[in-house]
Amino acid sequence: MTFNCLLYPFSVLLISYSVLAQCLKPHEEIQRSAFPNDFFFGAATSSYQVEGAYLQDGKGLSNWDVFTKIPGKIEDNANGDVADDHYNLYLEDIELMHSLGIRGYRFSISWSRILPDGMLGTPNPSGITFYNKLINHLVSKGIEPFVTIHHTDLPYMLEARDGGWLSPLLREEFAHFATICFKNFGDRVRYWVTINEPNLIADLAYIRGIFPPARCSPPFGNCSTGNSDVEPLIAMHNMLIAHGMAVDIYRSLFWPKQQGFIGIVSSAFMYEPLRDEERDRLAADRALAFNVAWMLDPLIYGDYPAEMRQCHGLALPKFSANEKRLLRGSIDFIGVNHYSTLYVKDCINSTCPSGGDRPIRGFLNTTSYRDGVPIGEPTGTSYLFVVPRGMEEIIDYLKRRYHNVPMFVTENGYTLPAQQNELQDMGRINFHKAYLVSLARAIRKGANVRGYFIWSLMDNFEWLSGYTSRFGLYYVDRQTLERTPKLSAKWFASFLKNNTHNEKEESSAAASSVQG
Ligand code: BGC
Repeated sequence: MTFNCLLYPFSVLLISYSVLAQCLKPHEEIQRSAFPNDFFFGAATSSYQVEGAYLQDGKGLSNWDVFTKIPGKIEDNANGDVADDHYNLYLEDIELMHSLGIRGYRFSISWSRILPDGMLGTPNPSGITFYNKLINHLVSKGIEPFVTIHHTDLPYMLEARDGGWLSPLLREEFAHFATICFKNFGDRVRYWVTINEPNLIADLAYIRGIFPPARCSPPFGNCSTGNSDVEPLIAMHNMLIAHGMAVDIYRSLFWPKQQGFIGIVSSAFMYEPLRDEERDRLAADRALAFNVAWMLDPLIYGDYPAEMRQCHGLALPKFSANEKRLLRGSIDFIGVNHYSTLYVKDCINSTCPSGGDRPIRGFLNTTSYRDGVPIGEPTGTSYLFVVPRGMEEIIDYLKRRYHNVPMFVTENGYTLPAQQNELQDMGRINFHKAYLVSLARAIRKGANVRGYFIWSLMDNFEWLSGYTSRFGLYYVDRQTLERTPKLSAKWFASFLKNNTHNEKEESSAAASSVQG
């Protein structure tokens, strides 16, 4: 006891010093040449977050079109009706991409633009035309389209009918939608992602109930209906089988001619033990199993992680022999959305207050603070801190667990803390440099990473935060929708050109563009 008391202040000092050292450390330089020549550098967006034009040319209502209209759900009661009007301004946006010199643009297809009511049916021709124009123009500029079929927004009718991904009917609906995409766009699209972050959707929509259809139960959240213990497991199960069906269709009907690659994207926090103790180390391993392995194990090995089976017992759905066959080996690559790292505290052998910062299942709590000290520099997003080592660690973990299957970092991004000048975003530049240094280290050790996409090309509709949270390389004026390059856009362009960039010059250029 005395020993602990003596140690305590000393350990706080050590921890504070290491965080301080991290903040003060001169920012590491990184060169384009640290990555293979054919490495894919790109930028990412998603349909609901940038397109706007929510009812233009026959588009149907999506779940987000409806959800954002419920007062109090979104900061400032904002919505994506207009967003960045990318639907009408896509030519200008492709010019922005071209001037950055990126090789890939990751975007998603609005399901309700293609199938306005969801439901098996014929596609809306104007929706097909829009994505054809977008893809053709990208290709003509030498930018590879990296297409996500489903990124959070689904036709409202599919959600109203029986709770979105809770329904097994969505498997067939998704396979139908994906088939339309392969058929109409697959001659020019070489990289497909079936679903963006099933693990985060299961969490936000069915555990915490803060995304539509807002289903949950205590202690995870307060919703009018739902069951946070069971429904996320069912929703994930349906998303995984839907993925497997789409991949099966792609590989058997389209791949022989189109020869593209198809994968899935996982939300991929890294986790570290809160205390230097075995129980928290085990809890951090469990956190990885209950987050990334929950969705990836079935797609590589054909079943859920053993840790989850132990914890959930019969509540965890079972795959039939056919479904296992469908899922096993059903990805050509893993898309990794990595932003930050969390501490994990064990709740099996320790007492935990119910809830915690970001409660996830697996008898553990997560938090961004150890003894009041944050895990890294704060950002403008309350649960995201700058922890560059997390990139190398999560890539190492995936490499080990999945035999080094090809990976793309499909999202990595940063918001400036409040009150900072958005155009002079040195914080964002330092963030990307540090995370790229960490990624390059993982690659040097043999990780099979093929690309890196910055989230996001431009400021956009950031879900619950509306337009208050800006992740873009380009600043978007909410009144005029004018796009202005931030300092980070200039840094990224010069990084890609392989020039040594001159921060002083860029800084004064950005300052004059703010004034002018
Ligand atoms: C999502 C994006 C989102 C980003 C930043 C990712 O999990 O895929 O849609 O904007 O995080 O919060």
